[in-house]
Parts: sequence; C-alpha cells; structure tokens
Amino acid sequence: MGIADANQDVQRWIDEWVRVLEPARVELYLGEREETDRLIDGLIAQGTLRPLDPSRRPRSYVAASDPRDVARLESRTVISTDDPDDAGPTNHWQDPTAMRERLGKLFAGSMRGRTMYVIPFAMGVVGSPFAVYAIELTDSAYVAVSMAKMARVGRAAWDAILGGAPFVPAVHSVGAPLAPSQRDVAWPCDPDNTWIAHFPATSEIWSYGSGYGGNALLGKKCLALRIASVHAREEGWLAEHMLILKLTSPEQRTYYIAAAFPSACGKTNLAMLQPSVPGWRAETIGDDIAWIRPGPDGRLRAVNPEYGFFGVAPGTSRRTNPVAMATISHDTIFTNVAVTPDGDVWWEGMDEPAPSGLITWRGEPYDPAKGPAAHPNARFTVEARQCPTIAPEWEDPNGVPLDAIVFGGRRRDTVPLVAEARSWEHGVWLGATMASETTAAAEGSVGRVRRDPFAMLPFCGYHMGDYVAHWLEVGARAGAKAPRLYVVNWFRRDDEGAFVWPGYGENARVLAWIVDRLEGRAQGVSHPYGTVPAPGELDLAGMAEAPSWDALFGIGDEEWSRELEDARAFVATLAPRFPASLLDVAEAADRAADTDR
Ligand code: GDP
Ligand code: PGA
Ligand code: MN
Ligand code: MN
Repeated sequence: MGIADANQDVQRWIDEWVRVLEPARVELYLGEREETDRLIDGLIAQGTLRPLDPSRRPRSYVAASDPRDVARLESRTVISTDDPDDAGPTNHWQDPTAMRERLGKLFAGSMRGRTMYVIPFAMGVVGSPFAVYAIELTDSAYVAVSMAKMARVGRAAWDAILGGAPFVPAVHSVGAPLAPSQRDVAWPCDPDNTWIAHFPATSEIWSYGSGYGGNALLGKKCLALRIASVHAREEGWLAEHMLILKLTSPEQRTYYIAAAFPSACGKTNLAMLQPSVPGWRAETIGDDIAWIRPGPDGRLRAVNPEYGFFGVAPGTSRRTNPVAMATISHDTIFTNVAVTPDGDVWWEGMDEPAPSGLITWRGEPYDPAKGPAAHPNARFTVEARQCPTIAPEWEDPNGVPLDAIVFGGRRRDTVPLVAEARSWEHGVWLGATMASETTAAAEGSVGRVRRDPFAMLPFCGYHMGDYVAHWLEVGARAGAKAPRLYVVNWFRRDDEGAFVWPGYGENARVLAWIVDRLEGRAQGVSHPYGTVPAPGELDLAGMAEAPSWDALFGIGDEEWSRELEDARAFVATLAPRFPASLLDVAEAADRAADTDR
C-alpha cells in the first residue's frame, strides 16, 4: 500500500519532508496537556486564538479565519489516480505525476520560519480491528490542537507506528513561509493555491494552502472518508458520511441507526437528539463518519472512527440542540463565530438575541444590514467525551450492530418525511440518486439542488459507479441480516417557505415509526419512494400544530416523473460502471407504487 512500515521508514519519511518543507523546528506533538497549553499560549500571542471569559466558558477559544478560507474547497480537492476513470466523473482528477510536481513546488520551503509538528494519531480505537494509524505533518499549531480533539492523537498511536503498524502519511502546510523577522498573521493561508490531493495508490494525503478543518484536519474527510473508502472497497467494508445513534424504546429495546446526510443537513443534530416522544431515549455514538464492517455473526457493525465533533454552530441552541450546547460549554475551540462584549460566543439561531456590542467573525461591530454575525459555516471543535449523551459503547472496539440505515437531504419538496425502501437494492437506488440543496459547508452557491449519492459526493475516493456496485455487494453478503434502508427529509417547505416539519427533537417520531416497521407493528402505505406511514400511523400526539399527511408525504405525478427523470440522467453519467440492474429495480418500484395507488 506504499505505507511506510517500520521505525526507520518513519524517520526516513519525516526527514524527506523536512528537506522539502524546510521548517525552522520539528516537534513531535502527542496532544499532552503541557504541550497543548504551550501551543495555545503561542496561538493567543499570535492572535489566532482569543480566549473566552473562563467564568463563562472555561478553556475555550475563538479563532477567526481568513475570510477566503472558511469551508471545504471542493473545486481544489482532487483524487490522483493513474487512470482518470478510477476517480470517476464525480471527482476532480489530476494526474498523480503532474500533481506531485505542482504541489512539490508549492511545498518547497513552505514551512520556512515555522515549526513543523509531527502528529501521530489513530482513527478508531487503538488496537481495535477498525483502527487505522496515520501521521500528519503540519506547520499549523491551530491544526495540531484541533487534531488532538478530533482524532486519537498520542503516545499509543505513536508506539503502534514505531512498532511497525502501517500508517497513512499525511502532509499539510498552510503555505505561508516566514522570512526572517517577518511578522506572522493571525490566520496564515494561501487561498489562491490551495490543493487537497489524495493519492489512493499509496494512501498519501497532501494538503496545501488552507487551515480550514475539512481541508486541514487530515484524519477526517481525507483519511476517514476518501482514503478509507478505497481501502473499504478492497477489503469488503464501508467508509461512510454517517452519524450513528443508539435508540432505546419504551420497552427498553435498543436499536442502532446510522444516517447519511450531506454536510450541514442535520447529522450532528440527529446524533444528539433529545426525543420529544415520552419513554424514548437517544444516545450518541458518532456525528459525521461511520466505518461499517460485517461482524462474525454476519451483521453489519459500525464504529465512529473520530474522537470529537466538528459541528456547525449557527442554528445550535438550547431549544434545538441542548446536548450540543452542554457539550460545548467548556474546552471548545470555536471558529468564525461572533464574540459578545462579555467574552462569550454568539451566532444566528442562538436562544438569546444578538447582544449590543457584538463583534462579528470578521472582527467588526455587528450591523445586521451587513450580513450575519457568525459565518454560516462557523464551527465548534470539541471532544466527544464531553457530550452528555455519549453512549458507553461509543468506544467499543467491535462497533455496534446496525438495525437501520437512513439517507436524507435538504429538499423543499418531492422527498417525503420518511419512507422505507422496498429492498436493499431499492434502498441503494434511493441512496445513489439522493439529492440535496447545497450548503455553506463547501465553497460555492447555497440552495442549489444537486445529486449527492449517499452524501458521499465530495468524499468518495474512487468511481461513484463502483461505489454503488460495492454497496450492492455488501448488502448481498449480509443477506437477511442487512439493516433496513430508509430515506428521510426534515426540510419540506410550505408555500410561504416555512419548514412544514418542526424537526430536531420531533424527529424522534420518525425514528419511532422506523422502529415500528422493524418490529412489524406499522403497516405503512405504498408511495413512489417505498413504504411511508399510513395516515394516522405516525405518532403526532401532543404536537402543537400537526402537519397534514399531504404536507409531509404528498407528491404530484409530475413532480415524481421529473425527479425520476433527473435521477436517471444522473446515473447515466456514471455508466458503464453504475450497476444497470438498479434501473430495473427503480422501474419495478415505480410500477409497484403505481399499481398500489
Ligand atoms: P451536519 O453538518 O450534517 O452535522 O448538520 P447539523 O446537525 O450541524 O445541522 C446543520 C444545520 O441544519 C444547522 O443549522 C441545524 O440547526 C439545522 N438542522 C439540523 N436538524 C434540523 C431539523 O431537523 N430541521 C431543521 N429545520 N433544521 C435542522
Ligand atoms: P458536517 O461536517 O457534515 O458536520 O457538515 C463537515 C463537512 O462535511 O464538511
Ligand atoms: Mn461531514
Ligand atoms: Mn456535523
């Protein structure tokens, strides 16, 4: 796999990069308290981090990024395979030799005047069958301290790597070398030359020019999704953009549910759900990434390979997500939020109105006429163990057995509140053709509907057609033990543009119906998307203004044909690797819905 596999290889790999990057100093960073405190002191002195009032939010800081470096940069995220067809039409492909040359030039001397941190880490529990080891080299102390919250950075991973465990080599530079006596800026970056490159053949990650989380914390999107998806395909498992939730019913039965929603479409919120329905309990296992493998009993078992949450701040409040609010009450790094005069954070959608004297993420006095106080993609970075609803088994080395997998997106119409797929194959069709309105989590326009198969469009490290075929294989192998597949949509709107479904804690009503289906209690009715709750079947008791069945599930014939046509046109772009059998599955499902109506 091209991964260095021994002690000497580690040293040789680091030495080679030191020669290229020319850092002024090299430090091993193991995420220990004293090292972290020292790095944070330096970041405060440099102006990168601003400490919050410790009486309000202990050991918490705010960073304001360069306004040109606020989100994942999909147009500069590339998969470099020898054959462009192996990256597929949904990825940006660059020739590996050319990419290495171009990035090699940018990397040359790019750490001059800076410290290079060597950060060993594991994705997954160290020593578990799921664990993948890696080393990130970076010249950003902000990245180093953020990595310690988001991945299992430290001695155990380092020892495993020195002991000969294969590791993923990941290199990151903000691309802002310092000349002698040059003053540093608060957020160094090189936005005009940013590249996030993946070399699946050697499992290498090269990231240049950005300090933003998804571009710079290389364990997350780059390793745990793009590189891992390639390994997963080769080894018969799945690396997915999914939250993992534990649900306990009033009968004290537990269920494990994974859900794939595109970025900024509700994963963190669902993972931290506080059910509005009496008697139900929800606990958190992961909020962004799931690695799923068949267990010894043939059931699919999932782990969250991360160590923390990198969550969207705007919209997070005690009303919508009290669990997140408790999680981030201390020891949290905020990026691009607004700061109150008394030294706390604020963003749009918080419980309290904007206080006077608010300073925006751009460091200016807040004026609502000039745009939001917090960037729409402002984030919090926090360790998962601070979450009050974290499930005890979140670090179970063997993972949890999945009962259901849910696909969802942000759609103002067409997609119903919930539907159960008619079969694994039909669910794979629904996952492969799901679409969602774009959000501020990546650069570019917001609110445009785009196909985002399995919420993996920006994260699949190989050809999307092969990816869909791989899903079919995993399901075929799991057979009757495969989890059931569902679609959901919390984002339907009425004629005035208001959400018809209250969402958040009320989403528990939908989960309860899914459990009713798993237990054979709910009959459902046929719908173009599969089986949806029969009128009256979804428990809406106690809801202030219960929406009508039609508002939640209705779909016009024309609306449906347009959707189906668009979905077919999309999968045609993945031919010939897209499994043709799925077109028959889609057609059969369509006919079934028709005859039932
Ligand atoms: P993630 O990026 O997929 O983890 O999404 P988040 O859970 O962070 O949510 C992204 C945005 O969608 C936030 O502003 C949330 O407040 C909002 N959101 C999350 N869940 C719901 C929901 O059920 N209904 C509505 N209307 N908005 C939601
Ligand atoms: P999200 O994670 O899915 O929580 O938005 C970050 C991202 O996908 O960029
Ligand atoms: Mn994500
Ligand atoms: Mn999230």
